[in-house]
Parts: sequence; structure tokens; C-alpha cells
Amino acid sequence: MQGETQLCMEIENTTVMVPYGGFSSSVVADHRFVYPIPQNMPSQAAAVLMCAGVTVYSALKTHVTSPDLKVAILGVGGLGHLAIQFAHAFGCEVTAMSSSPEKKEQALKFGADHFINSTHFTSSTDDRDGMRQFDYYYDLVFCTANHGINWSPLLMSLKKRGRLVLLGFPDIEMNSTNLVAHELSITGSLIGNPPTMRAMLSFAQEHGITPVVELMPMSQVNEALQRVKENKARYRIVLANETTDANR
Ligand SMILES: NC(=O)c1ccc[n+]([C@@H]2O[C@H](COP(=O)([O-])OP(=O)(O)OC[C@H]3O[C@@H](n4cnc5c(N)ncnc54)[C@H](OP(=O)(O)O)[C@@H]3O)[C@@H](O)[C@H]2O)c1
Repeated sequence: MQGETQLCMEIENTTVMVPYGGFSSSVVADHRFVYPIPQNMPSQAAAVLMCAGVTVYSALKTHVTSPDLKVAILGVGGLGHLAIQFAHAFGCEVTAMSSSPEKKEQALKFGADHFINSTHFTSSTDDRDGMRQFDYYYDLVFCTANHGINWSPLLMSLKKRGRLVLLGFPDIEMNSTNLVAHELSITGSLIGNPPTMRAMLSFAQEHGITPVVELMPMSQVNEALQRVKENKARYRIVLANETTDANR
């Protein structure tokens, strides 16, 4: 009733999950969840923005209460590379935390002010080398990674009363001491509601926020999935039906 359809108690999958969902050559969708695409925005960009884009935009819109906040984005993938661009456009000081050093140059081009190696958070030994300068540094950490995060040094990077916002679905195992002693919060954020989708599309258009896309034909779906699993996709793969023009 409040318009937060993504949080509905009786949530229904509309276009994506039903056979064949996003892999269909066409779908019939409920008009409430169909949005005008801004002029000159290619379908392949809109496709990425309307999942990854709205997810990160909605989370940033909720939690970035002032442009002077220091924000970290953990994981520079499909969600992460857009989160950096949106957070930069919001005016925040942005740090990209990545396990892939080769992404540094592009992360800085996306608008990151700093790039740090997230393996400091993923090593099984609690390696604090190089991370002390970031202790109590961030107001907000947005986690888009799913795997192998070492939570205690990550939580140490949050300011007192800082907030960790989960966008990915990692397993969580942590010592509650930092959480309590530093009055930290952990929360999640799920996609976004229809007005947020519209606002995100026009914000992206206005600020030139563009997903970096590898366009692959639908016939290569298995290769595409393999690239994603191996963390090789840069930064989102869009599958184009051979029978349609992806740039239409
Ligand atoms: N909350 C929502 O509404 C919502 C919406 C869409 C998707 N999601 C979820 O958000 C998560 C991220 O989605 P995504 O599309 O951004 O995924 P993705 O493109 O695969 O990116 C995930 C990033 O996590 C990092 N990573 C760290 N350890 C990794 C490992 N062992 N293997 C692979 N990647 C690793 C990588 O970044 P670095 O190389 O920089 O470390 C990778 O690029 C997924 O769990 C997805 O299901 C949530």
C-alpha cells in the first residue's frame, strides 16, 4: 500500500523468473512495472541499469543522507561499477574495495577517489597491514561481494555508528564486540520501487552514468555464465537475442 512493491508480503515474480523469463524473445509485463527508457539510452544500458542500477541507486538514496559522507563499495562487478558512478555523482568521497588489482584504473575512471585491495578483508589471517589508515574511516560500506569476506577488519573500517549495507548475499560470521562497542548497524537493500526506478533512469541520463557492457549473443549463454563465475566479466554481460537488435 505504501508503494514499496519490492517488499510486498505477497511478492510475485513478474517477468524475470517465469519460464523463460529474461531469456524470452518477448514478454508480457504488468504495466505498473514497465518504464519509459530515456531517449538515446541503448537497450543494453537500460537492461543493466534496471536491475544493477536501481539496486545501488536505491540503497545510496536511502543511506547517503549528506554528500560529505565517506563511502566504500566492496566488489567492483556489475553492481559495484555502477555504485561507484552513482556515489561519485551524489558527491561522496568514494573508495573502491576490490580483490582484482587490475580494476584499479577503471575504478578511478568510474569516479572512485581511492582504490584498496579487498583481500585485506578476505584473507583468513586477520592481516591488518595497510588497513590501519582506514580504521574508523567510512560512514557507509556497501557490500556487493558474496564470497570470503573477513568481517572483523571490514567492520573496523567503519566509523563509530557507521553502517554496513548488504546488496550481495554473503554468509555472515562475525564477532559481535565491534558491532556493539562501536554502535554499528548492518542492513540490507533490495532492488527499488517503481518511482525509484524512474528517478534512477533520469539521474543516470543526466549524470552520464553508463554501464560497461560486454554484449554477447544468446547462443553463448553458457560461456557468458562461465565468465561471470570466474569474475572475468567487465562489468556486466548482456545477452542479445539474435532475432532482435540490442541497440534498438
Ligand atoms: N540486493 C539486490 O536487490 C540485488 C540485486 C541484484 C543483484 N544482487 C546480488 O548482488 C551480488 C553482486 O551482484 P553482481 O551482479 O555485482 O555480481 P558480479 O558482477 O559477479 O560482481 C561481484 C563482485 O564480487 C567480487 N568478488 C569477491 N570475491 C569473489 C569471488 N570469489 N568470486 C567472484 N567475485 C568475487 C568481485 O569484485 P572484485 O573483483 O572487485 O573483488 C566481483 O566482481 C550478487 O549476490 C547478486 O545476486 C542483489
